[in-house]
Amino acid sequence: MSVQLDWSNLGFGYIKTPYRYVAHFKDGKWSQGELTTDDKVVINECAGVLQYAQTAFEGLKAYTTEDGRIVTFRPDLNAERMEQSAARLEMPVFPKEQFLKAVDMVVAANSEYVPPYGSGATLYIRPYMFGSSPVIGVKPAQEYEFRMFCTPVGPYFKGGAKPIIIRVSDFDRAAPNGTGHIKAGLNYAMSLHAIVDAHAQGFDENMYLDAAMRTYVEETGGANFIFVTKDGKVVTPKSHSILPSITRRSLCYVAEHILGMTVEHRPVRFDEVKDFAECGLCGTAAVISPVGKIYDHGREIDLPSGMDEMGPVTKKLYDTLTGIQMGRLPAPEGWIRIIK
Ligand code: PLP
Ligand code: COI
Repeated sequence: MSVQLDWSNLGFGYIKTPYRYVAHFKDGKWSQGELTTDDKVVINECAGVLQYAQTAFEGLKAYTTEDGRIVTFRPDLNAERMEQSAARLEMPVFPKEQFLKAVDMVVAANSEYVPPYGSGATLYIRPYMFGSSPVIGVKPAQEYEFRMFCTPVGPYFKGGAKPIIIRVSDFDRAAPNGTGHIKAGLNYAMSLHAIVDAHAQGFDENMYLDAAMRTYVEETGGANFIFVTKDGKVVTPKSHSILPSITRRSLCYVAEHILGMTVEHRPVRFDEVKDFAECGLCGTAAVISPVGKIYDHGREIDLPSGMDEMGPVTKKLYDTLTGIQMGRLPAPEGWIRIIK
């Protein structure tokens, strides 16, 4: 490896890497796609993405395993979720096989930037697509660009595995029949004011409740919730306006089929939260970040797992998932894609 970065002290930020992938949709079909060193995007001033936010993205990671291979984790599920996002935003679907090939190409071409095993850092891969041709009436663009770059990252929350403090947000993230279940850029634009305000008030993230009734727990700006009951069950919120997290689905499988735990995927009332033993935020960027406290308008919910370390069940889930990703533990069939 010739690239030397301070791998163990990376934050979750953008570092330019040499190669990215680009493909264009024109005249009803996608181009073959290729790697480029050009990190600039040139589009018309009236492009669909610039006027009406017609864009969706994905996020996945590449890992160096204990035995020195480079792998990705369930990229097929990112390809499928991007299909759902494209369909909901009236964008052409980017073919799954081409998506998987693009991931392989981008990671292999930037392999010097895949952080070493044991450094705590990983290579974050960001596929995204957007309407690139002009639209001025509100309608879908005719032409699209699909791109994928990668950047080495450290923990999403400062402090890594240290418990964080979140607050119940008065802002909503997603409407009941809106776009919360897809990875549309517009969902994140919606959350920017809420996250800046949360940070200004000393909180790490927002807990969003269901927008219609403010009764049920939905998710945070960038991760799903995973709760543990005092009798050791794993509970995750179910709602049509939550992003179907690949990490959460994988953790539920791990809990049930590898750790032999009971898993409930069901609507979770906010007034149940005070009775849980552990709470974590799960996602590609967040991995599992333990939550120590939840503020609700002056009232504080202190999770019994406390502010010093992850609760024992969260830790077991974290160790098993990262063990699978880093090749320390056997993976369920089809979860690991070897790049090299
Ligand atoms: N929820 C939101 C709003 C997200 O942005 C993400 C990140 O992708 C997740 C959940 C976690 O999803 P995944 O585990 O697929 O990364
Ligand atoms: C991810 O986990 O991949 C995300 O897209 C979340 C984002 C907030 C960084």
